[in-house]
Amino acid sequence: MDGHGPLHSQLTRALKAAMLEGRMAAGERLPPTRLLARELEVSRNTVLAAYEQLQAEGFLRGKVGSGSYVAPGLQAQRAVEGERAVPPAGSRVLPPQSVHAGRLRRFHDHARIPGRTVPGTRYAFQYGVPMTNPALTSAWARELSRAARYTAPSYPPSQGLPALREAVAGYLGRRRGVQVAADDVLIVNGTQQAIALTARVLLDPGAAAAIEEPQYFAIREVLQIHGARLQPVPVDGEGLRVDMLPMPAPRLVCVTPSHQFPTGAVLSLPRRQALLDYVHAHDGWIFEDDYDGEFRYDARPLSALRSLDRRGRVVYVGSFSKAMFPALRLGYLVMPPGLREDFISAKWAEDFGSSSVEQAALARFIDDGGFERHLRRTSKALRERRAALLQGLARRLGERIEIADSNAGMHLVAWLRDATPAQGERLIATAARRGLGLHPIAPFYLQPPARQGLLMGYAGMPLAEIDAALQLFAECMDEAVPAR
Ligand SMILES: Cc1ncc(COP(=O)(O)O)c(C=O)c1O
Repeated sequence: MDGHGPLHSQLTRALKAAMLEGRMAAGERLPPTRLLARELEVSRNTVLAAYEQLQAEGFLRGKVGSGSYVAPGLQAQRAVEGERAVPPAGSRVLPPQSVHAGRLRRFHDHARIPGRTVPGTRYAFQYGVPMTNPALTSAWARELSRAARYTAPSYPPSQGLPALREAVAGYLGRRRGVQVAADDVLIVNGTQQAIALTARVLLDPGAAAAIEEPQYFAIREVLQIHGARLQPVPVDGEGLRVDMLPMPAPRLVCVTPSHQFPTGAVLSLPRRQALLDYVHAHDGWIFEDDYDGEFRYDARPLSALRSLDRRGRVVYVGSFSKAMFPALRLGYLVMPPGLREDFISAKWAEDFGSSSVEQAALARFIDDGGFERHLRRTSKALRERRAALLQGLARRLGERIEIADSNAGMHLVAWLRDATPAQGERLIATAARRGLGLHPIAPFYLQPPARQGLLMGYAGMPLAEIDAALQLFAECMDEAVPAR
């Protein structure tokens, strides 16, 4: 008896262990309840309860009260129960139990997610964090509490609430040049679910998928875990090198045309056209990840690639992670017309549908203009931060870095001039030690890049702190990458 919980449960566990470890053999008679109760100095009811429990679970044969025997054939059960009986903490990791699990282990590691916050830093040029905005928090709290009161408690439609699909379709027409009906829109739990569903609908394991090099690691990993064969294609200042797409052509090409992730390049119009022609000629598909297309600072946002697609070959995906905040886990996928049912069924199979309350709140937030007001405010604040960051980098780092800037999004890339890989690593380590979070660009490449670079997110960096952070950055550069 181990002293944990009610006496009858302790006794049940102790007897089970004796049977599973072979100390009590199949067919062996258990002591009469009265006798065992006396020996253990517990009530007879305690022993009766334990025997009944063991009998209910199939460990004992016979009638409680007139003789109970260890059940035969415990061998198989022993393995199963034995696993459960061993405490999970510190237990040995089993080999992967499926091919899929094998790929999960090979391609994903929770402990090594690129760009993750460096703990204990004073300043962090963190990518992927939203801009904190008290006005959004209170507006969102109001919408949520209203939606919680009026949303039907039944299962949501798998495709998404009609009100949200209407709102998204309207928004895409107004802001992204994408003219679609609400019926073409599938509500998903972010880009992450969109790529997983797309892989399921379009790719057999082993099928080829082209990705940008460098690329967003989460999409890459989902494809790898799915069993896709990746074909990395370089990017330059005009985005994906469409002329370097492989032959034979892959089933799927994943791109970030509005703002290449992470380099920031915008896919030029001739390349957009060439890419559409390429997939059309080879019966392929495009996954357009329009993750931060709403933030452009020089002019109106560029229309999405999907707006040029006349043949229905683009799976267009947007997310509320940047436009609102990533904890929301909501996004949308514009389905190619001929594959609507497949995408909706794939979403159903995955989770029945996204949470109705959040969907209803978001639909109202978009309809009553709150969402686009929030976008305008956020764009203004991001533009200020970006300008301060660019000025500060020029002033404090000067020629030692080269900025890849595209007038869009929430991050930019600073390439380190003349830095060796070892110096790049030293810079990150020095910065972390001195309280500055810097993130290398290398983990976003499949092959190590020729140059050392930093991915600098500015949505989470208050305007007032940018200069102090850059001063620290310059000091770390002096220490880790001495000027020649
Ligand atoms: C390139 C890219 N796509 C998409 C996303 C958003 O993913 P999700 O919608 O799953 O939050 C991110 C977020 O950091 C991103 O960097």
